[in-house]
Amino acid sequence: MTSAFRRTINVSTVLKRGQNPDGLRKRLGAKDMIGFGVGIIIGTGIFTLAGVEAKQHAGPAVTLSFLIGAVVACLAAVCYAELASSVPTAGSAYTYAFATLGEGFAWIIGWDLLLEFSLGAAVVSRGWSGYLADLFGLPPELFGEEAVVNIGAVLILAVLTVVAVVGIKMSALFTNTLVVVKLTVCVLVIGIGAFFVTSANWSPFIPESRTAESPDVLKQPIIEAGLGIEPTMYGAIGLLTAAAVVFFAYTGFEALANLGEEVRRPQRDMKIGLLGALSICALLYIGVSLVLTGMVPYAEIDSGAPLAKAFDAVGLSWVGGIISLGAVTGLTSVILVQLVTIGRIGFSMGRDGLLPRQLGTVHPKWGTPHRVTIGAAVLVGALAALVPIDELADMVSIGALSAMIIVAVAVPVLRRQRPELERPFKVPFSPVVPVLAAVSCLYLMLNLDVITWLRFGAWLVIGMVIYFTYSRRHSRLAPGNGGDVAEEENVSAG
Ligand code: ALA
Repeated sequence: MTSAFRRTINVSTVLKRGQNPDGLRKRLGAKDMIGFGVGIIIGTGIFTLAGVEAKQHAGPAVTLSFLIGAVVACLAAVCYAELASSVPTAGSAYTYAFATLGEGFAWIIGWDLLLEFSLGAAVVSRGWSGYLADLFGLPPELFGEEAVVNIGAVLILAVLTVVAVVGIKMSALFTNTLVVVKLTVCVLVIGIGAFFVTSANWSPFIPESRTAESPDVLKQPIIEAGLGIEPTMYGAIGLLTAAAVVFFAYTGFEALANLGEEVRRPQRDMKIGLLGALSICALLYIGVSLVLTGMVPYAEIDSGAPLAKAFDAVGLSWVGGIISLGAVTGLTSVILVQLVTIGRIGFSMGRDGLLPRQLGTVHPKWGTPHRVTIGAAVLVGALAALVPIDELADMVSIGALSAMIIVAVAVPVLRRQRPELERPFKVPFSPVVPVLAAVSCLYLMLNLDVITWLRFGAWLVIGMVIYFTYSRRHSRLAPGNGGDVAEEENVSAG
């Protein structure tokens, strides 16, 4: 490993950026953080993937998959909270890694986050399209999961890219309304659905594992393939695979950590925001998935709009309609936040010279990182049009989990390197909790299938080629490039 790979930016530089009076405004409190968190976190993970994973991998035990996902997400979130409260910055995990582990690791994490949020936007737009089809009776061949080219997903991405680039800020009232809409849908599903649960549908709760119908090693969890086990469906392995995939449902909390520069009291509000939002989501996910698998035998769950169709099936189409309307409005905000987050990460990487500097500049009029946002949106649109939702979600999970491993490792490393740094929030029992976080993330990753690992490997190889041929030389830290100085550039809060 070369020394360029391990060179770090100064934590003080990062802190100075955070204090830049011309920078992002400090405007958010703890309540805003929880609201914003729930708003970003609840999305296609529960509206669509819960059903897809119950059907394909876990049966009713998808509820346990959500529980496992919640534990891992909370472990990772406390690591995020320590770094986010002591190094508040717009670049999030990418910047933490740059200040601790070094430029090469920062590159990998930034590259992973771009994958996570880009494909995340693709997943949610496909989920959006499925519910739109249910709401207006649109043809599933164009808007559903069976579409060869998913028109609905492309349409919503195009509209929201314009919104993200023009920097139209969702007013607090609008954002809060969407949060209420999503909460209402979940509570409605649980409250009304509970009366339509047939307990026979929960039995057996963990369907017995059986040999896969069409054994395909590429579709087998890498841990199973590595141990030479025959490809199976359901059972304990299926439950863990589903846990790795539905981990997607908790992703997005990292975007909260990205708001470090905009929180009034990062030390307190960040921790309350992250853990509060995750706990609320976990409770709702467990409730909704329990009711869904109780209402419909898992093998018969619909893949496009599982929650709405479950109510249609018991003759409550009006509830199904409300759910679809809630999903269509609620998912919009998730996609928008994902697009804005891509802009922020690209902005940070461009600002440091790891991506072309032009990407780290903002539009003169709109004040948003328009180039990186539009570039990513084109790619996201193509993927959302063509790739099935579960395959995209696998990639989001592997990208998110790998970034979280680096964040967890960065906690004890930064404590050793900068013991004097003020840490308003400290992970309890470090390094035990960070190690647990890293190991549990890795374990979930190992339950993703071989093809996901191959695609992820290819993404990393492409990333490394770009790093070694471009970023290393153009980095602000490379000799003669201006060095480690705080920047005056600004970016819209989106
Ligand atoms: N967690 C978000 C979702 O479930 C990305 O859609």
